Amino acid sequence: MPQPPGRKLVTALDIGSSKVSALIAEPGEAGELRILGTGQRESRGVKRGYVADMERTEAAIREAVEQAERIAGTNVEDAFVGYSAGGLVSTVASVEVGIGGRKIEKSDIDNLLIAGRDSINPEGRILLHALPALYTLDGLQGVKKPLGLHADKLTVDIHVISTEPSPVRNLDLCVRSAHLGVSAIVASPVAAGRACLSEEERELGVALVEMGAGVTNVSVFAGGMLVGLKSLPIGGIDITDDIASAFGTRRVEAERLKCFYGSATTSPRDNHDMIDIAPIAGAEEGAETTRITRAQLIAIIRQRLEQLMDEIAQALKDLGFAGPFGRQVVLTGGASELKGMADYAQGVLGRAVRVGRPKLPGLPDAHSGPAFTTLAGLALFAASNELDLRRFGGNEKGTRKGEGEGMMQRLISLFKSNY
Ligand SMILES: Nc1ncnc2c1ncn2[C@@H]1O[C@H](COP(=O)(O)OP(=O)(O)OP(=O)(O)O)[C@@H](O)[C@H]1O
Ligand SMILES: [Mg+2]
Repeated sequence: MPQPPGRKLVTALDIGSSKVSALIAEPGEAGELRILGTGQRESRGVKRGYVADMERTEAAIREAVEQAERIAGTNVEDAFVGYSAGGLVSTVASVEVGIGGRKIEKSDIDNLLIAGRDSINPEGRILLHALPALYTLDGLQGVKKPLGLHADKLTVDIHVISTEPSPVRNLDLCVRSAHLGVSAIVASPVAAGRACLSEEERELGVALVEMGAGVTNVSVFAGGMLVGLKSLPIGGIDITDDIASAFGTRRVEAERLKCFYGSATTSPRDNHDMIDIAPIAGAEEGAETTRITRAQLIAIIRQRLEQLMDEIAQALKDLGFAGPFGRQVVLTGGASELKGMADYAQGVLGRAVRVGRPKLPGLPDAHSGPAFTTLAGLALFAASNELDLRRFGGNEKGTRKGEGEGMMQRLISLFKSNY
């Protein structure tokens, strides 16, 4: 069934290390989203956020999207795709032009943008985002529309997120092989931040830690934008694997133990709660069921969590998330669903911690947990005003090249649309 004319649907596609999920939604008059369909498939071709097996990934994409299409009762042609592998770099390029006390004219802003253009050097990297962040007039920060104001000096901060080209190309290729166009590839923390942080939190300063299966993305928001990020190649899969090898059981069984009996916090009762574990070999081969205490399971989980929290704390420090603005930490991603995770993190990090779920009304229950924050954020990003700015200049179906004149033209167009 083709899309009815005039209905501009948005499709979000999150390709993770454990699952591929898709969401089709219809933006309403006031920018709200009506969810039409969602789909999900196990992901067996993605490792630590990188595509490691094209065929398997492509098949999972096709099936997840088809499922969402069936529920929505429509076919989609392109999608906003999340990128959560390592290698994301966030920088702010700052440029300044002299105005000499007169009124700022359009040509002044053009000159500023050209200077900004020249100052961005992706150095062989792909540019995923280049957003006008902040105009400053003679030291007064946060000016939204400088046109027509008097000033000596006009400065603009350009917020740039770039990454390594090859993994982005592989992702792009997988989606296209599944017969879908790529509207944009969006850095996962940009999407996740939109779905589970309030505008005020992003304004005042907040850290977002998305704990997935294979990747934990630590990002810091301040002044309304993402100001820094760091990707850690560790996630829920590592906890599952630790359990499987500690108790000699299969991964599916270890996953079940983690989700049902696992916890990040301990209690004296754990020594008395007994858990039966199915052995790797089947019962017919004479293998016996192992019996452990819940305390033993939790000890294994906490060993890995300690490492993860140490790395998160170090990342937050490296990102400068300290001092008065570093108040709240929000955990999201599937691995944040572990029982007691927020309490545990609060104790280790010494900050207020909450688990962030996607704030998108109408998500089906199965897709409303923290594992779907990025998916929801991609849809919100797709439907936002930023979309118009970013799409300005064409390349509707293509991934932004991020290099050469094409990207620079789009960057300039983007700025022009914002003043
Ligand atoms: N109730 C739970 N308790 C503990 N862990 C859980 C629970 N539910 C899900 N997880 C873990 O969350 C992880 C999946 O998270 P998520 O769906 O966010 O990952 P992903 O997007 O597929 O991967 P990534 O973003 O790392 O590439 C798995 O490791 C899973 O074991
Ligand atoms: Mg993910």
